[in-house]
Amino acid sequence: MKRIKASAPAKVILLGEHFVVHGEPAIVLAIDKRATVTVEMRNDPKIFIESKDIGASGFFVNDKFHPKMGGEEAGRKLEPIYAIAKEAIRRYNLRYGININIESSIPVGAGLGSSAAVSVATASAIFSMLDPKVSKDTIFNAAFNAEKIVHETPSGVDPAVSTYGGILWYCRSKPIRKLKIDIHLPLVIGNTGKERSTGKLVAKVNELRSRYPLIVGKIIKAGGEIVKRSVKALREGDLKTLGELMNIDHELLRALGVSCRELEELIYAAREAGALGAKLTGAGGGGCMIALAHPEKIIDVAHAIKKAGGEVLVTEKTDEGVIIER
Ligand code: MEV
Repeated sequence: MKRIKASAPAKVILLGEHFVVHGEPAIVLAIDKRATVTVEMRNDPKIFIESKDIGASGFFVNDKFHPKMGGEEAGRKLEPIYAIAKEAIRRYNLRYGININIESSIPVGAGLGSSAAVSVATASAIFSMLDPKVSKDTIFNAAFNAEKIVHETPSGVDPAVSTYGGILWYCRSKPIRKLKIDIHLPLVIGNTGKERSTGKLVAKVNELRSRYPLIVGKIIKAGGEIVKRSVKALREGDLKTLGELMNIDHELLRALGVSCRELEELIYAAREAGALGAKLTGAGGGGCMIALAHPEKIIDVAHAIKKAGGEVLVTEKTDEGVIIER
C-alpha cells in the first residue's frame, strides 16, 4: 500500500503577531522543529487519525467521531486534520478513506505554530499521495482553511511559514514574500509552559478594538511601521536596532492585553542578562517569548530565562518549508 510521509517546520514570529490579523505585515521565521505526518489509503471509507503526542486518536465515519484515545475531546482536536482529509477526498473523488499518523516535536499551544505545521504536513502528505505534482499554494490553502476551524479569523501566517520556510514577509491577502536575507539571528526561545488558545487571544484584541477603535487602530498601525523599519535593520545586519524594535513591539502587544506575568518574567530576565531585545512570540497569554542577543551573550540569556522558570529551546532558522520525506 502506498505510504507517504511529509514534514513541515514550526515558526517564530519575529515581529507583527496580532497586528497581522488586522492587515499589517509580519516577519516570520521557520525553525528547525518539525511535525511529521504519514498517510496511507484504506480499503474502506473510514478516516483514522492518530496523534500520540497529544493523546488523541479515532475514526471519523460520515462526520461522526468514534474515539480510540482521548475521548470526545480528541475529536475536537483532530477536526482540522479531518477537514483536510475530507477536502482531498472531495477534490479527487476518492472512494476510500485514509490513515493519518501524526508525530511532532513542536510544543503544543506555545505560539510556535504546532497546529499549522501539522495541518501543512497533513495536506502535503495526502495531496501528494493523490497528485504528486500538487503545488505549495494548494497545500497552503488547504491548511489555512483547516486553521480557520480552530482559530478565530487567523491571518494565515502560521501555515504560510510552515509551507514555504525561510524568512517571510506576510501580509494577509497579499502575495507572500520570501525575504532573501542572509543573516544569522541568534535567538533564544523561552517557553512559559502555560497553554493558551490563539482564538481567544485574537478575539480579545478584536473586542478591544471594537470598544476603542481609534486608540487600538493606532497601536496596530504602529505595529506595522515597526515591521517595515525592521527590514532595513535585517538587511543591514543591525541587531541593535532589531532588538530595540522587538522591545517596542512587545510593549504594544502588552498594551493590547496579550502578555501575561509569566511572559513578562522571562522577558525581563532576558533583557537584564544582556538581550538586545525580547518579546512575546505568537498569540501571547502564555506560550513563548523570544530574545535576540549577540552570540557571546546567548548562554547568559538562556540561563536567565531558565532561572526565571522558562523552558529554553535552542533552535535555528530553517529555509526548508514543507517536504516529502523519502
Ligand atoms: C499566532 O501565531 C499569530 C496571531 O497573529 C494569530 C494569526 O496571525 O493568525 C496571534
